[in-house]
Amino acid sequence: MKLRIAVLAGDGIGPEIMEQGVAVTSAVARRFGHEVEYREAICGANAIDLAGDPFPEETFRTCMESDAVLFAAVGDPRYDNDPVAKVRPEQGLLAMRKRLGLYANIRPIQTFDCLVHKSPLKDEIVGGADFICIRELTGGMYFGPRKEGTDEAYDTNIYSRHEVERILRVGYRYARARRNHLTVVDKANILASSRLWRNVAMEMMKEYPDVRTDFMFVDNASMRMIQEPRFFDVIVTENTFGDILTDEGSCITGSMGLLPSASTGEHTPVFEPVHGSWPQGKGLNIANPIAQILSAAMMFEYFGLNEEGNLIRQAVQASLDAGVRTPEIQVEGGAHYGTREVGQWITGYISQNL
Ligand code: IPM
Ligand code: MN
Repeated sequence: MKLRIAVLAGDGIGPEIMEQGVAVTSAVARRFGHEVEYREAICGANAIDLAGDPFPEETFRTCMESDAVLFAAVGDPRYDNDPVAKVRPEQGLLAMRKRLGLYANIRPIQTFDCLVHKSPLKDEIVGGADFICIRELTGGMYFGPRKEGTDEAYDTNIYSRHEVERILRVGYRYARARRNHLTVVDKANILASSRLWRNVAMEMMKEYPDVRTDFMFVDNASMRMIQEPRFFDVIVTENTFGDILTDEGSCITGSMGLLPSASTGEHTPVFEPVHGSWPQGKGLNIANPIAQILSAAMMFEYFGLNEEGNLIRQAVQASLDAGVRTPEIQVEGGAHYGTREVGQWITGYISQNL
């Protein structure tokens, strides 16, 4: 297969983890005889500095002309405490999602046996947890009309039937490929937008009699997720709830640095870590490259290249088992491995293991 991949490394630790994500992608491509062509493009704070726009037109074009986008992270503390900044790095991320029509964000939450103790939750609660959160990504409060006054401000949580239906279909597709259980998370006891979600879901569930559909209020779901994470198979929810629940979900896995995601929709799909740009870690060779590397696995799987994806997963698992881990998940007294060393170990495993 010939793959054109747009590489958007962004800010903070982005370039460091991307280097490893690209190395792993190339190693897999070599092993399986795929031809990969990379095209680098700027985004985030870096792009504001260089082009005055966190998602410049040229970057958009590069994405549109590629088969997939590997994205790392955007964000810079220069903008975080500046409420009057006119452009922000995060706007680049939202522009990318909107312009590429990436309405479905797939965030798998899994545990690794050897890391269960890293979760702040008890082993017997998180052990074996394995679910996917499907977050609607181009609607809701993130994109609804807003007013930002000094005495009054609001955001609008707006959803159309079309938007709800298409994301629910993604949910059902994943549920059918897994354990046939879909949980629709909303706040239908309060929000009109949630009642639309629920009504549409109640109509659609008749088309999927083989899937068990249940409904859960978001406050309850956030509790259930840490009380009994094994309850869940596929969660589908709106943009804002999905943002919040997936950060909570990272506590099940034990480190944000392990969570990949895929954003798919109308145009080129994007594969990116769930975590952000971690500016404090920049340049220190301590960021965990695994979320980026597993995002590459999701990219191969998106193209139906499951063996390729599997080999990456196997290599990641082997690195964890061998104790080749970045500091935040290293066992006490274990050797020190940085971003580069972990990435190189995984790349080496992929290149050699036949
Ligand atoms: C995420 C991030 C983004 C979001 C930020 C950086 C805009 O938190 O991808 O979850 O809120 O969607
Ligand atoms: Mn988030």
